[in-house]
This record gives sequence, C-alpha cells and structure tokens, in this order.
Amino acid sequence: MTYQSTRLRLVEISLDDQDDIHHLHSFPEVDEFNTLGIPRNIDETKEYLTPLIQAQKVTPRKSYFWKIELLETFAFIGIAGMTLSLDRFKRGEIYYKLLPNCWGKGYATELGKLLIGVGFNEFSLHRIEAGVATDNIKSIRVLEKMGMRREGLHRKILPIRGEWKDNYHYAIVEDDLNGN
Ligand SMILES: CC(C)(COP(=O)(O)OP(=O)(O)OC[C@H]1O[C@@H](n2cnc3c(N)ncnc32)[C@H](O)[C@@H]1OP(=O)(O)O)[C@@H](O)C(=O)NCCC(=O)NCCS
Repeated sequence: MTYQSTRLRLVEISLDDQDDIHHLHSFPEVDEFNTLGIPRNIDETKEYLTPLIQAQKVTPRKSYFWKIELLETFAFIGIAGMTLSLDRFKRGEIYYKLLPNCWGKGYATELGKLLIGVGFNEFSLHRIEAGVATDNIKSIRVLEKMGMRREGLHRKILPIRGEWKDNYHYAIVEDDLNGN
C-alpha cells in the first residue's frame, strides 16, 4: 500500500532500501537531534531495519516504516514511520527524517500532513503524537505547521551523544481538524 501527496509518496521499505537508509543516517546533521547515532557500517543499518521489516507481517499491524520518494522521479529523499497504540486508545506516533539536500522545500510539512491524513482516515486514529528535541527548531516549526500542538515537556529523556536531552511532546486530535 502506498500513500501520496502532491509531491511525495510513501512506500513500505524492504532490505533493498538499506543503502539509501544507511546513507541518510550517515549525515551528522540528520543525526543531530536523533537517538539512533550514526551507524558504523551497513550491518548496523541492516540490524536496525530487520525488526521494522518483520513488523510488516504482524497482524494487527502496530508499526509502519516507509521510504519517502519524490512522486515525479521516485528518488529516495528520506524515511517516515508511525507506531500505533493498543486499538482502544486509537493513538499513533509519527517520526521522519529527510536527506539534507531536500531540506527547506516544504517537504516535511507536506509529509506531516500526509501522515496525519493517513493516521486519521486510513488507520481511524483519534490522536496523533510526535516528540521533538527542544533544540530542534526546524522540526518544531514543521510540527506546528502541520497543525500539532505542544502539550508538554519531557525532561532529560533523549540519550543523544552521551547527554540527556529534553523533548517536547506534540499532538493533534481529530477534533482539532474541526476546530473543536
Ligand atoms: C526537520 C526536517 C524534517 C525539516 O524538513 P524540511 O523539509 O526542511 O521542512 P520544511 O521545509 O517543511 O519546513 C521547515 C521550516 O523550518 C523553518 N526553519 C528552518 N531553519 C530554521 C531556523 N534556524 N530557525 C527557525 N525556523 C527555521 C523553515 O523556515 C520552515 O518554516 P517556514 O515554511 O515557515 O519558513 C529536516 O530538517 C530533517 O530531516 N532533519 C533531521 C531529522 C530530524 O530532525 N527529524 C525530526 C525529528 S522530530
């Protein structure tokens, strides 16, 4: 199943995408606010991807991991994911990362709106959440542009390069779309 917006499409990953994802994770600027760290070699990337690919076979699905492609050329520009709660909570958490040469073109905002649409319309969620390091100004801007609201602060929760960093908690609920 693929999902698309004006310029982007989301395609579920396979091990064929490991080189692109390894390349993405090799940029220090992509890693700056990330807890994953830069992979030392392709085997580390494979180890990271394997459970995400295995999750595609679990029913009911609890997590999705997509590559982001430009609709026009099918060029790989990044990754996005959504993790789902237990059914009764109808909650999903999203995350995303783009190649640095694609930043500043509004792709993340477009992607975020697509993810929110998928979450509410395809997965029947009630609430979609995201976490962001408090220093990650670009991503904070993106979350707010996609309609998410800041709900709180988790202190010293992110292990990033040997330090504990603070994280803002963001969310959008169905009613926000109706202005309630
Ligand atoms: C965060 C990230 C996804 C943003 O992608 P992007 O495609 O450049 O985002 P957009 O172009 O949609 O929007 C970026 C916004 O940040 C703003 N921005 C960029 N640098 C900024 C700065 N230093 N201060 C304030 N705002 C800034 C841009 O002006 C733009 O807002 P605007 O449209 O109102 O002008 C991308 O930088 C990335 O992949 N970073 C590494 C991984 C990451 O941090 N992921 C998010 C984890 S929560």
